[in-house]
Amino acid sequence: MRSVYLDNNATTKLDPRVLEAMMPFLRDHYGNPSSIHGFGQASRRGMDEARETIAGILGCRPNEIVFVSGGTESNNLGVLGAAEAAGERGRHIVTTTIEHKCVLRSMKILEKRGFEVTYVPVGRSGVVKAQDVTAAFREDTVLVSVMHANNETGAIQPLEKIAAEARAREILVHSDAVQTAGKVPLNVDALGVDLLSVSAHKIYGPKGAGFLYVRETAGLAPLIVGGRKSGTAARERPIFRPLSGSAKPSSSRRNEWRKTGPGSRACATLFVKASNGAWPACISPSRRRRRFTTRCTCASRCLRARRF
Ligand SMILES: Cc1ncc(COP(=O)(O)O)c(C=O)c1O
Repeated sequence: MRSVYLDNNATTKLDPRVLEAMMPFLRDHYGNPSSIHGFGQASRRGMDEARETIAGILGCRPNEIVFVSGGTESNNLGVLGAAEAAGERGRHIVTTTIEHKCVLRSMKILEKRGFEVTYVPVGRSGVVKAQDVTAAFREDTVLVSVMHANNETGAIQPLEKIAAEARAREILVHSDAVQTAGKVPLNVDALGVDLLSVSAHKIYGPKGAGFLYVRETAGLAPLIVGGRKSGTAARERPIFRPLSGSAKPSSSRRNEWRKTGPGSRACATLFVKASNGAWPACISPSRRRRRFTTRCTCASRCLRARRF
């Protein structure tokens, strides 16, 4: 029996081009990037290049990229680090009820540390109303965290509207973009975010790698201390992860994605063929709402069936 892998929102297969780009760092350039000798500097160059590539995609500065171990750490660091750093200005945070559990658990930790968190619910479509979120802002609100798109429904949230209002009130904006990175354009200024979380293994990169974008003006308290640069801001933490390789292919991947990725006609045709007629129809749960294109729900019995 032929198996078809359909769980790309959970994780993706490593792109051979990523593996190829990573190999020199796994095999030859094993120096610690904080070491000043040649071995270390070769690794450092790999990290710097990866930072520059990511910065080019996001429209930010290379020094605003903090490498971490994946989406969970990125969200933990973004939420806990930003809240702790801003804690003296105010102790209220706004988020939604549909965030990934690594964000929701971070909120619970903050509640135990004396922060107050408002959880804004979404409507039936899975989209939060921007005005519901902004109506929850208070004088002492220091952070709002709203995911860019939900991992279960694919519903894209009105981040730009929320961010515009938040930034006018000097409230930091964090967004979990783990599900949209590589699929929809992510420009940090267009989105209006101060912190943005991305995971490599959702975009054909390796497991155990990701990054947090941190706007230069946003404060961030470190989660992990005691490294070579302990005591400095988290963005200084010189950790080397095999992310260097996954940055480059992701820019060309986005164009390929549009043509052949999930949600494209080419992919749907392939899927219907591969399923041997078992799934004659592919539906997108809501064509009226903004959803990212990996969400293509397949059903043999459905109301809004669409034949490709
Ligand atoms: C929306 C969202 N945020 C965060 C994560 C966690 O990412 P990671 O598996 O890289 O820790 C996931 C993974 O499923 C996710 O879908």
